[in-house]
Amino acid sequence: MDATALQRQNRRIERLKAQGVTRSTVLVHQECKPALESLRLHFLDPMKADALAAMARHLQDKKTPTNVAQVRQLSPFRYPGGKTWLVPEVRKYLMVAKRKPSVFVEPFAGGAMAGLTAALEGLAEHVFLCELDDDVAAVWAAIFNGTDADVRRLSKRILDFEVTLENVREVLSVATTDTMSRAFRTIVKNRMQRGGIMAAGAGLVKAGEAGRGLKSRWYPATLVTRIKVLRALRERITFEQGDGFLAVRKFANDYNAFFFVDPPYTAGGKKAGKRLYTHNEIDHEELFALMAAVSGSVMLTYDDAPEVRRMAERHGFRVEPVPMKNTHHEIIRELLILKP
Ligand SMILES: C[S@@+](CC[C@H](N)C(=O)[O-])C[C@H]1O[C@@H](n2cnc3c(N)ncnc32)[C@H](O)[C@@H]1O
Repeated sequence: MDATALQRQNRRIERLKAQGVTRSTVLVHQECKPALESLRLHFLDPMKADALAAMARHLQDKKTPTNVAQVRQLSPFRYPGGKTWLVPEVRKYLMVAKRKPSVFVEPFAGGAMAGLTAALEGLAEHVFLCELDDDVAAVWAAIFNGTDADVRRLSKRILDFEVTLENVREVLSVATTDTMSRAFRTIVKNRMQRGGIMAAGAGLVKAGEAGRGLKSRWYPATLVTRIKVLRALRERITFEQGDGFLAVRKFANDYNAFFFVDPPYTAGGKKAGKRLYTHNEIDHEELFALMAAVSGSVMLTYDDAPEVRRMAERHGFRVEPVPMKNTHHEIIRELLILKP
């Protein structure tokens, strides 16, 4: 290429750069080359970004169930109905989104698997967690809103705790309003009550794994490491105790907000929500209406039930069934409900 042609080419590259167009190198299998050719021009058009992102999402393989063992656990909770399996889905969704959300809002946080991952992996500028339950909230408030000294005390208490039936019973029986003590009691309760069930009245684990009874449920070093990792993320995470509906309204006008909504589900009256959480009554119709009205992006997750599909349709959401492999290696389907 002669000097003039080179200059001309450089000027063109500069002009394109000013318009937001830069060169990217991609590796392409020869079988896929025709598709790349037919898409080439679309990649130059910013108006096509949403359509291309939707296409990319469509291409993500929904047929392979997520193996929950492959997801890094960050939460100190074992949460019934926890959404570990959904983490790769949320990650994929956010990675192909046109821009990074200003805030990842998880209004019904529970064990907050999705929000914690978003914070750790920088999938959003900020993460906002909300939870109503006093006990669950105490754990998040301790980790994200407590002082360093408080968190050190909590961690030491976890490491020093001697697991015996008497000690567990004693911790669970003490009524306390102090956040750190409440957080400790919640963590003990969550590990020791069957199935991680947080509602009152759940029995304690009996034989536990390998016959080691309650002790087999207590992984103090792991818990403390998780708390440390989360504590290090506290600049990126805001936790507030309260009603999830209000948390959603707070960000309702933010076009760049992303809402991950995993409410306690009791619609149809047949699901387990009622016995799992203390707070399990919410108005799902109202929730769908609210989520349909917010400016940002929305991902709801529900059991696959006909009444849920009907609600989603009524409020104009798109429904994607996602297969997941549960801890018993059974494949079950849940629904991702998305704004179109
Ligand atoms: C299905 S769980 C969330 C599980 C969570 N996604 C996880 O990964 O562990 C629903 C949570 O919503 C909480 N909750 C119930 N009603 C609420 C409300 N009105 N506002 C905020 N949180 C609420 C429950 O206490 C429970 O922790």
